[in-house]
Amino acid sequence: MDKLTIRDIDLKEKKVLVRCDFNVPLDANLNITDDTRIQASIPTIKYIEESKAKKIILMSHLGRPDGKVLEKARLVPVSKRLSEILKEPVLQLKDCIGEEIKKEINNSKERVILLENLRFHAEEEENNPEFAKQLASLADIFVNDAFGTAHRAHASTEGVTHYLPSVAGFLLGKEIKYLGSVVTNPKKPFMVILGGAKVSDKIAIIGNLLNKASDIIIGGGMSYTFLKSLGQNIGKSKLEADKVDIAKKILEDAKKVNVNIHLPVDHIVSDKVDAAAIARTVEKIGDDDIALDIGPKTVKNFEAVLKNAATIVWNGPLGLFEIEQFAKGSKEIAEFISKTGATTIIGGGDTAAAILKFGLADKMTHISTGGGASLEFLEGKKLPGVEALTEKRS
Ligand code: 3PG
Repeated sequence: MDKLTIRDIDLKEKKVLVRCDFNVPLDANLNITDDTRIQASIPTIKYIEESKAKKIILMSHLGRPDGKVLEKARLVPVSKRLSEILKEPVLQLKDCIGEEIKKEINNSKERVILLENLRFHAEEEENNPEFAKQLASLADIFVNDAFGTAHRAHASTEGVTHYLPSVAGFLLGKEIKYLGSVVTNPKKPFMVILGGAKVSDKIAIIGNLLNKASDIIIGGGMSYTFLKSLGQNIGKSKLEADKVDIAKKILEDAKKVNVNIHLPVDHIVSDKVDAAAIARTVEKIGDDDIALDIGPKTVKNFEAVLKNAATIVWNGPLGLFEIEQFAKGSKEIAEFISKTGATTIIGGGDTAAAILKFGLADKMTHISTGGGASLEFLEGKKLPGVEALTEKRS
């Protein structure tokens, strides 16, 4: 990476402001249901501690409170979890800016401090310079480790870099290393697995990776729009009617550049979408069928392609994995690629959740903590939170 990282800067006796992405899922009782993003921030926090920094001031958003204080969006569950993992007290503050907050930081006996949800202030998402300046005034150095929020030009990701030396944390660096290798120079054969509900979410990725990949495997909700474009009956399956023409064009473009696009040839269907749904395997989708997963022949076809891959990027589940009856396709493909020896890079929140559910997280090369951010990166877009960091001098 051409940006300075925490290894390039002296942190001793410094107050270090760290942007993390602690936007974690919570249940109705405000228990964290997946702490991956918190765990992923620990190497950076520990390194800053070991570098003898004076204070480590962590900041994050949680949810979309839209500039208002929302009790259920407080970061208290996060500071509790952090304190358990770090095995030391973490001071949870009630706000993120102001003289009181500054005093509390300076007088605290705790070294690790978590500011309150940045999005309780509308100025955060507006990237308000005065708000960014106030955040910056809390510290001497800014570290961005929030890859999941790097696609947002907000005060805590972009604004603050105008007022402090700004470097990348380990998580941000790792994400850029793995996802960056895919968009610049993937080891070949390079194959892409795309799924999820919508074609519209994936058009830009296909556009960016079409010249780089040898094969693109398409499953999940988005595959039915492609099958429709080939004139197949998709019954009551997910369809983006206004994207049928685009799907057709993608298939034609792929042919022109010799990229193989692989679509499902059989399906797990049902007549309803809930936990009690009865699943059937079909090759031809009936008028009343809703296709919710790829079928066994498709799994075999996809595996036959993927066994030759050196690099695999997967974004979007291949079926409705949240319901047991429709999880098999995603699970079998996940198990298969974990054994291929290929570099496996998983992007997107749903795919990461599926891999976690299947207990395969430690079998993949890299699981991105970014949803929207990993999508935009794979689309070839520049991420403002990364771009704004201080350049390495050559
Ligand atoms: C995410 O979960 O994708 C990030 O935390 C960004 O959240 P946002 O989409 O609300 O900006």
